[in-house]
Amino acid sequence: MLWKLAWTFLRPYRRWLTIVVVTQFLQTLGMLYLPTLNADIIDNGVIKGNTGYIVGIGGVMLGVSLVQITAATIAVYFGAKSATAVGRDIRKALFDRVQSFSTREVGRFGTPSLITRTTNDVQQVQMLIVMALTMMLSAPIIGVGAVILAVNQNVELSSLLLVIVPVLGAVITFLVTRMRPKFKLMQTRIDGINRVLREQISGIRVIRAFVRDDPERRRFEDANTGLYDVSLGAGQWMGMMFPAVMSVVNFSSIAVLWFGGHLINSGHMQVGALTAFLSYLLQVLMAVMMSTFMLMMIPRAEVCAERIQEVLGTNTSVEPPSVRVNDLVKPGHLELRGVEFRYPGAEEPVLTCVDFTAKPGEVTAIIGSTGSGKTTLLNLIPRLFDTTEGDVLVGGVNVRDLDPDLLAQTIGFVPQKPYLFSGTIASNLRYGRPGATDEELWQALEIAQADFVTDLGAPISQGGTNVSGGQRQRLAIARTLVHQPGVYLFDDSFSALDYATDAALRAALARETRHATVVIVAQRVSTIRNADRIIVLDKGCIVGQGTHGELMATNQTYREIVLSQLTEQEAA
Ligand SMILES: Nc1ncnc2c1ncn2[C@@H]1O[C@H](COP(=O)(O)OP(=O)(O)OP(=O)(O)O)[C@@H](O)[C@H]1O
Ligand SMILES: [Mg+2]
Repeated sequence: MLWKLAWTFLRPYRRWLTIVVVTQFLQTLGMLYLPTLNADIIDNGVIKGNTGYIVGIGGVMLGVSLVQITAATIAVYFGAKSATAVGRDIRKALFDRVQSFSTREVGRFGTPSLITRTTNDVQQVQMLIVMALTMMLSAPIIGVGAVILAVNQNVELSSLLLVIVPVLGAVITFLVTRMRPKFKLMQTRIDGINRVLREQISGIRVIRAFVRDDPERRRFEDANTGLYDVSLGAGQWMGMMFPAVMSVVNFSSIAVLWFGGHLINSGHMQVGALTAFLSYLLQVLMAVMMSTFMLMMIPRAEVCAERIQEVLGTNTSVEPPSVRVNDLVKPGHLELRGVEFRYPGAEEPVLTCVDFTAKPGEVTAIIGSTGSGKTTLLNLIPRLFDTTEGDVLVGGVNVRDLDPDLLAQTIGFVPQKPYLFSGTIASNLRYGRPGATDEELWQALEIAQADFVTDLGAPISQGGTNVSGGQRQRLAIARTLVHQPGVYLFDDSFSALDYATDAALRAALARETRHATVVIVAQRVSTIRNADRIIVLDKGCIVGQGTHGELMATNQTYREIVLSQLTEQEAA
């Protein structure tokens, strides 16, 4: 999983990788060559007192070192460069994928987890790639090369490697297997802390209002302590790693010096060879250490790669059409045919057999009690969800076949809970049409009765929390007006307005949208009584369609709703 992911994203940087491999190879060769030269200096220069030889070979050593340093620098530079680029590309891929998700997929992963996956998880994978490119490439070459050269220096002494390497391997494997599960837990706990924190920051007003500070503080503390515990656990094992490895390394050095000393005494070995052997031994152990260090990082990165792949491998349930229809057959027309909708995992459908048609120049109103499925119905039109049965047609084309951009352009949706983005009023209003002039913005604001706006550059905070609910609704309406769609969907968008503003807004809106198709969801009868067609929704089913007068005469549900708000005379 990890390697597949890494390779998929590393492939574009093959050229850099080639440079890394070549330079790593060069620097490894240099590293392996130096102890042999050193032994040569000692045996043939120092011991024999040959200064010229020392200077000569010393010069060669200097040259080899310079080549090694240069190669190592280039290797690290391009290694880091590729890894960072891969990190950026994975983040981009994740972002694009998440953007394509419908509400269903976002709900499945949860926002906090998607954020951790795009940031922290990618970071872990990126770090592993840096390590792999700098360490893992050279470790096997150093390991094998140093063993060969050590044997070359002295065969008898080399038999020590048969003991030392397995011991080191066993110690490290033991430690790494302890760490693996901890790392897995760590990523989930990071998700957890993100979730709690997000909720508490967004819900801070509610927390204050209900004086839930202490329980919430405890909840955060639990999540925080959870992460602390598991990090500490992993850290303890990791902390043991270095001393354990160093003990093995140092005891091996003692053993080598001990046995080597005897060999030199008995004339079976030269002093230079022992120094060289010791250097190669250290190189072998270093190679083992680097490999295990990698092994240590792999589990965590593997978990992260799995989590990333999970997102990348999830297809949106609102699939874009394979053949995109780019022409509207009947512009402005909106039709729902036998629509049924069931939320994922729900037993009962929320909407059943919904049929209606709306034409340009008409206002269609939808009324129904709370939870009757009005918002759900509107969500189906811009494909926030797809129907489970039946079809939605916009402009005479099934929305499943319609080009998503064209669909977005055609539909102007003012959601029940409007969301504004951090920026200014102007940047929010231009959201659907960046080219709109200031004049057009002011006009939209005037129609939306947003007379509280005096400055288009006034700041808006994330979510639009620095304006009131009613102001937010009016800005959202203005935003949709600037967008100039052919079909307007208003989901209870006038609920936070007082009666006078509501009336003024609808009058202005009627002039502006007289050629467009308008669908208004509302709770207030006064808002919709003049609509060309009123649809009465009850428990997800259309129980009546007609004008106010027709419905008052024939429809019991509608009469009840109306009479609960108006007196008999007002209703007539
Ligand atoms: N994301 C969701 N997952 C599962 N069920 C949902 C979801 N959203 C809404 N529902 C259910 O679907 C039903 C209809 O909800 P919907 O939001 O469409 O009602 P509504 O008519 O817009 O109500 P209101 O007038 O309060 O806005 C409700 O019973 C609700 O529990
Ligand atoms: Mg609703």
